[in-house]
Amino acid sequence: MTKIDELREFLVEFHTRYPGATAEALKNVRDAAGRTTYEAFVDTVVQNASPDARILELGCGDGIVLAMLAERLPNAELTGVDAVSPDIEIARRRVPSATLLAGDFTTLPFPVASYQCIIAHLVLMLSGPLEPVLEQVERALTPGGAFLFVADDVAVCGTRYSELIGVGLAAAGVESATRRFADVVDKRLYDEAELRELLLSHRLSLETVYRYEVNGALSPDAAWELFSRMYPIGTLAPELNAKARRAIEDDVRSSPREVNVAMQLVTAKRLHG
Ligand SMILES: C[S@@+](CC[C@H](N)C(=O)[O-])C[C@H]1O[C@@H](n2cnc3c(N)ncnc32)[C@H](O)[C@@H]1O
Repeated sequence: MTKIDELREFLVEFHTRYPGATAEALKNVRDAAGRTTYEAFVDTVVQNASPDARILELGCGDGIVLAMLAERLPNAELTGVDAVSPDIEIARRRVPSATLLAGDFTTLPFPVASYQCIIAHLVLMLSGPLEPVLEQVERALTPGGAFLFVADDVAVCGTRYSELIGVGLAAAGVESATRRFADVVDKRLYDEAELRELLLSHRLSLETVYRYEVNGALSPDAAWELFSRMYPIGTLAPELNAKARRAIEDDVRSSPREVNVAMQLVTAKRLHG
């Protein structure tokens, strides 16, 4: 089994155990304008998509973004795909007007030039090498269409957020379950020049890279809500999980600094021809 297969298996197992985990984790942290990362992303999608656009979301999870889009763009035709069936089921109930597909978006046979907008929120840093994803985007996007995605920014996440993950793991006495996947992350996501070149080789022109943070001065309980749904802590066995919880809550109580998660929002356009 390759590392990427292992990562996929890990993600399916985690998200099957915790449907809706990502949205639940990020509900209490907001950007400088007071928006959750979902609201910041959806604002950008709405700016880049026509009201009746066909929009495809890669790794749609429980459908939180699709639900927001269904409200903001009621005439858009929405499709979401995710490898995790319980999340897809939630999305189906939540957005009955959308087409929801369960499967791996790097291999699904999306029709050629059929979406005006392809989006992904907190997915591409979990997808391994970007080429198979970009091949799909290049094929499925109409010329002139928009490719928009958010990835959390591993280079900047190293402040209070990582500190508290470290506190939890140290209390549990274990390594992060996701450490073994660190080299599977395609680092070109975070290097603007390399990303531009890579996108261009798939007939996508990089337009903007917008960096933002979602922050929150969280209560110990709210901090636990965030961290218990993050991969390194959410995968701990129950007795280790309890130790991590105590340590994280104590640390937040004694040092109530804001918790921050750094994000990078990229917009690109499919070139003609
Ligand atoms: C961190 S979650 C984000 C979910 C949702 N976009 C959100 O922001 O709430 C990452 C999601 O990407 C999905 N995913 C990652 N790689 C995938 C692939 N190759 N095919 C289908 N889904 C994938 C996972 O199953 C998981 O639901």
